[in-house]
Amino acid sequence: MYKGILLAGGTGSRLFPLTKVFSKQLLPIYDKPMIYYPLSTFMLFGIRDILIISTPSDTPHIKDLLRNGRQLGLNIEYKIQEAPRGIAEAFIIGKDFIENDDVCLILGDNIFYMSDQVKDFQEKIAKNTGAVICGYHVPDPERFGVIEFDENDKLLSLEEKPLNPKSNFAAVGLYFYKNDVIKKAAKLRPSARGELEITDINLEYLHENRLQAMRMCRGTAWIDAGTPDSLMDAAQFVQMIEKRQGLKLSCIEELALNLGFISLDQFEKLILPFPDSSDYKKYLQKILLEKSCA
Ligand code: G1P
Repeated sequence: MYKGILLAGGTGSRLFPLTKVFSKQLLPIYDKPMIYYPLSTFMLFGIRDILIISTPSDTPHIKDLLRNGRQLGLNIEYKIQEAPRGIAEAFIIGKDFIENDDVCLILGDNIFYMSDQVKDFQEKIAKNTGAVICGYHVPDPERFGVIEFDENDKLLSLEEKPLNPKSNFAAVGLYFYKNDVIKKAAKLRPSARGELEITDINLEYLHENRLQAMRMCRGTAWIDAGTPDSLMDAAQFVQMIEKRQGLKLSCIEELALNLGFISLDQFEKLILPFPDSSDYKKYLQKILLEKSCA
């Protein structure tokens, strides 16, 4: 079973002044805090042992929001990243949490809408011998890690923010690793921008022929909500789907119930203190009523 690390660090400098006081990962994406989205991605993958890594100033607020996760049938632990020294530092900070398990890393500002493709992922991950990463077709690949595939979906190359991208597939912020990622992270050296790069870890697996990549299907959505525009895009996307379907995306209480992480009784107790005036509670009460009558 994979443990999960949710990286919610960084200064959110591209979102200044929104992030002058608030953590980026607690900013709203339409009707809920940003961190609910990556957390729900973990839940959909069945990952219940989760470490959240954040900054010294943001960690207390994230703890206030999610506590130890038991209310959702999860186990959530916390560790601090003292300075933004790169994504791959997560495996150094998270070493004691990972222990001897395999680990999935998700970036706290990455929002996924992948519907049934979760199943394809699970099949691929079950056969993972090193690392599994994922590519999403974007118009501006030079802003990301870029994955090149051959016609049989075999991964040919991976480059971090190349000037001349070899494809339109951006490496998304969702990565699955075997336990030896801890050793690889310990040996990493900082890049030219002074960070421990996740792409350098992935390149190690590529050189060992142990890196696999998946393409996210057409019709799925991946949004890295780290800029004012993408924050707005994400909110509008969530609003549109929720309004059309009358169903919420990444509603962690509903997911915990539907996935069997908590009982209907626990669900009822969990939502009781939520303010009656919120649409969020009304939505959850409707679910309670439906399930109670079922
Ligand atoms: C990081 C990774 C990059 C990846 C991106 C996804 O970039 O280095 O490979 O495509 O996350 O959000 P950063 O956000 O650190 O610039």
